Amino acid sequence: MSLDKETYEAIERTSADELKALQLRRLQWSLRHAYTNVPHYKKAFDAVGAHPNDLRDLEDLSRFPFLVKQDFRDQYPFGLLAVPREQAVRLHASSGTTGKPTVVAYTRSDIDMWAELMARSIFAGGARPGDLVHIAYGYGLFTGGLGAHYGAERLGCTVVPMSGGQTERQVQLICDLEPRVIMVTPSYMLAIAEEFARQGLDPTSCALRIGIFGAEPWTNAMRTEIESRMGIDAVDIYGLSEVMGPGVAMECVSTKDGPVIWEDHFYPEIIDPDTGRVLPDGEEGELVLTSLTKEALPVIRYRTRDRTRLLPPTARTMRRMARISGRTDDMMIIRGVNVFPTQIEELILKQSLLAPNYHLEIFRDGHLDSLTVNVELQSGVEDHQARRDGVAGELVRSIKSYIGLTTSVIVHPSSSLERSMGKAKRVSDRRRPA
Ligand code: DLL
Repeated sequence: MSLDKETYEAIERTSADELKALQLRRLQWSLRHAYTNVPHYKKAFDAVGAHPNDLRDLEDLSRFPFLVKQDFRDQYPFGLLAVPREQAVRLHASSGTTGKPTVVAYTRSDIDMWAELMARSIFAGGARPGDLVHIAYGYGLFTGGLGAHYGAERLGCTVVPMSGGQTERQVQLICDLEPRVIMVTPSYMLAIAEEFARQGLDPTSCALRIGIFGAEPWTNAMRTEIESRMGIDAVDIYGLSEVMGPGVAMECVSTKDGPVIWEDHFYPEIIDPDTGRVLPDGEEGELVLTSLTKEALPVIRYRTRDRTRLLPPTARTMRRMARISGRTDDMMIIRGVNVFPTQIEELILKQSLLAPNYHLEIFRDGHLDSLTVNVELQSGVEDHQARRDGVAGELVRSIKSYIGLTTSVIVHPSSSLERSMGKAKRVSDRRRPA
């Protein structure tokens, strides 16, 4: 097969049959590798009577048990490794809100595969060899910075390893070095955009043309907002440290229709989070991922807790995922109404007088939960009480009519809510444990 200019590797355009055959071979290897080398998997597979030799086709995977976040905690720090620790060339860790961090490890070949997948992802996002790439994902234990870094170098780009924070300096370097591509969380992109404005600079006249955004949920409304503020194409990159880091799936700039899952390295399933049953493509549920080629830390049926749907192939012959609507553990249940922060985000972004920054607080009044939506005025909007009341009233009405939930809305002065330098924290639960 000839490599056309729109793909980084021929495999991205392989036929469905070839892809399935490759996945099956790799899945059989990955199951055997996990079973033979990780006591946790041997025990878990044996407990349900599933043996790697039983896997005859891809659907047989559903007979194997899930891996969950708690397994990482129980096996902390190295219990899930399938190779001696000495063969790992790198560790990363995700902080986690409670308890121990999750430690992940990579062999040299895992790092190489990750760099390839990130190069493929950055290419699909529209970057080309020779481009200057400004990386404002955090460097360190978080997989964002180094993951993006290795991929951009692999693609043949010039990398600026800026990391997160120092917002004034971000703006200066973007103006002076003229990157064509930026990789950062969408919330921090907005903070950088505001810093441009604060310095009296117009971000649409800088050299940036492409933004590769991920690591937190964001909406199409947020995409439109960022694109118009920055004068760029904004594309979605997905990944998680347990499974590798960024670059498990990446949206193509030509279609902007949801991240393509790099199915030659990760096998996706969608399950009903309550029953664990595998759902057909197109239905929304929890994304479960199985690694097909990882050496140090094979993950078999890892429950990501991210809610999405599998969509048919478009720009590549691999399936896409719909934008993540939220994490199963981010879902708020307020007086019986299920609501994700992204649903509120969409409605905030419809209000032209409001800035795209917000913070949600859950309280308990007596036996009832209540939700307070903190928003702020767009900069330059004249701030007086009648205006705030008007905007608050409109948002209360729109949340009531679209989501069916009564909320309190507090409108703050412009630029007064906290900005994130990395992943935004959108929700604070102020309920005291009962
Ligand atoms: O956030 C890896 C990453 C870095 C992805 C840079 C993209 C860009 P973790 O810190 O382990 O890894 O967090 C993973 O972040 O399970 C999702 O809930 C969320 N997430 C990541 N990408 C997206 C996205 C990195 N594009 C968790 N949209 C995942 C929505 C995302 N949520």
